[in-house]
Amino acid sequence: MAVSRTALFFLFCLLLLLILPVGATAPRLYNQLPPYLEPFGEKVEEQACRYPQIFFLHAGPGEKKVALTFDDGPGPFTAQILDILSQYQVPATFFVLGEQLEEYSYLLGRILEEGHVLGNHSWSHPDFRNLSPQEILEGEILPTSTFIQNRTGLFPLLIRPPYGAVEDRAISFLGEEGFFLINWSLDTFDWDGEQNTTEEMQQKIKEYHHPGAIILMHDGENGQAAAKALPHLIEKLQELGYGFQRVDMLLGLTPYR
Ligand code: NI
Repeated sequence: MAVSRTALFFLFCLLLLLILPVGATAPRLYNQLPPYLEPFGEKVEEQACRYPQIFFLHAGPGEKKVALTFDDGPGPFTAQILDILSQYQVPATFFVLGEQLEEYSYLLGRILEEGHVLGNHSWSHPDFRNLSPQEILEGEILPTSTFIQNRTGLFPLLIRPPYGAVEDRAISFLGEEGFFLINWSLDTFDWDGEQNTTEEMQQKIKEYHHPGAIILMHDGENGQAAAKALPHLIEKLQELGYGFQRVDMLLGLTPYR
């Protein structure tokens, strides 16, 4: 057989990349790359294709389920966000920052008790592209996951790279260490003061929703916009027929070691 499975898969990915942007029902991934990623030319869709077992933007099209994910916490808005999630009985994913845990680690127990999953968003939120894979692991990933393990007994394996930015060599290195990298396919832009009113965020949902979407939000120091909009975003997604899943369930991954 002249054509290997790998070659076929690569071809499939290539076709997918060519077809997806114009397909009528295809999800419009990564609704917009953050402007600071563009000059570096990182193509996250291509990275997700190259590392289909390690690097994820969304789940495959299936049931109408989405995952809400919160970065940069825990912080001053996390308790309010937990109250809302509990009120709507929506499970979510929290990618926490090590340096936030110094003040807010008391929230870890509540996040777990209420059925959410914990992931690792690094210790100090650096751009991983400026660090070697070893520096990322030893300076950012291990300290945060170990801190969480010491408090909860669970060592998180799900990583959200700060800014969603990571080079291929770090993806394969962290994958070999047993971690998974989880980016997103739908950015609510709650982090962007220019476009984060509740109405604008609802519009993002309306425009870019798709089955298997991983939705980016924030519960850190600037989690105010997310906390304010969250009930409306949940209701909008329910209105569109979506249910909610933790990202590990949505992707079928083991979240802890
Ligand atoms: Ni972040």
